Amino acid sequence: MTATVEEQFEEVVAHDRRIEPRDWMPEAYRKTMVRQIAQHAHSEIIGMQPEGAWIARAPSLRRKAILLAKVQDEAGHGLYLYSAAETLGVDRGDLTNRLITGAQKYSSIFNYPTLSFADVGVIGWLVDGAAICNQVPLCRSSYGPYARAMVRICKEESFHQRQGYELLLTMMRGSEGQREMVQDATNRWWWPSLMMFGPPDADSPNTAQSMRWRIKRHTNDELRQRFVDMTVPQAAALGVALPDPALRWNAERGANDFGQPDWDEFKRVVGGDGPCNAQRIAHRRAAQENGAWVREAALAHAAKHPRFAPFSAPNQPDSGRPKVQSGGGLA
Ligand SMILES: [Fe+2]
Ligand SMILES: [Fe+2]
Repeated sequence: MTATVEEQFEEVVAHDRRIEPRDWMPEAYRKTMVRQIAQHAHSEIIGMQPEGAWIARAPSLRRKAILLAKVQDEAGHGLYLYSAAETLGVDRGDLTNRLITGAQKYSSIFNYPTLSFADVGVIGWLVDGAAICNQVPLCRSSYGPYARAMVRICKEESFHQRQGYELLLTMMRGSEGQREMVQDATNRWWWPSLMMFGPPDADSPNTAQSMRWRIKRHTNDELRQRFVDMTVPQAAALGVALPDPALRWNAERGANDFGQPDWDEFKRVVGGDGPCNAQRIAHRRAAQENGAWVREAALAHAAKHPRFAPFSAPNQPDSGRPKVQSGGGLA
């Protein structure tokens, strides 16, 4: 008896094999993947802004070169991810529109301001550190193009985490004022970093379906715990205090107990009312408008040299879901 497409899909997922763009998939799976990959891509691109603000003010040429490379990596992450989303039949121009009109979200963490150069170090240490905890399991996502993009992204995130930590180690060996900057930045970024794992499991209704589809491997609370346990010894080695009076080792559990972030603040920031939401979107919108001539020129060039088309025009008949040619190749 031949298996139905649904059965084949379930079997591939259950055996930890990959779903590829031309495979049949349930519409709800496709929609969930588009949303997840698009939100991730938007986060990478918006995430360039808080640290990008310090490139011109970095204290040395070396720090400027490192920061420039890091911010550029984030742009690359966004581009791999928009490409992965396009394999599901959406258009990246459309996704950008959804970002700048507020129809799609990005990680709440990037709506907080960067007040000193220590923030660059703390973002590398805590924000990229939390991103690694979230993203390493995604290298085994059931959706092939996303899983493969995550392998390279994770390697680069681990460079980001180390560059941040190295900057903080240097500052902690500096003046009293520098140590205070590091502590202040840690105090401001700690709780928003814990929010990066999403709401507590009890308030995360989609987790079970995402786990069944193998697009999520661990729950929000599991990942948050892993991040806290990883970070506590790093904070001790650095000589900074984590701003949580409830934080202590629990020998029975073999893990740290810790307090909960302010989930009302999380909801406000996700809902658009964080300290920098309007500014982040305004910058992204301006970049999109200022780059219009580049996209037009690329399309005009592609029309003359179709073999080298860099991308297809939004809403053109040839954009969207990859088509299978009679020879079996992708159109
Ligand atoms: Fe990234
Ligand atoms: Fe990063």
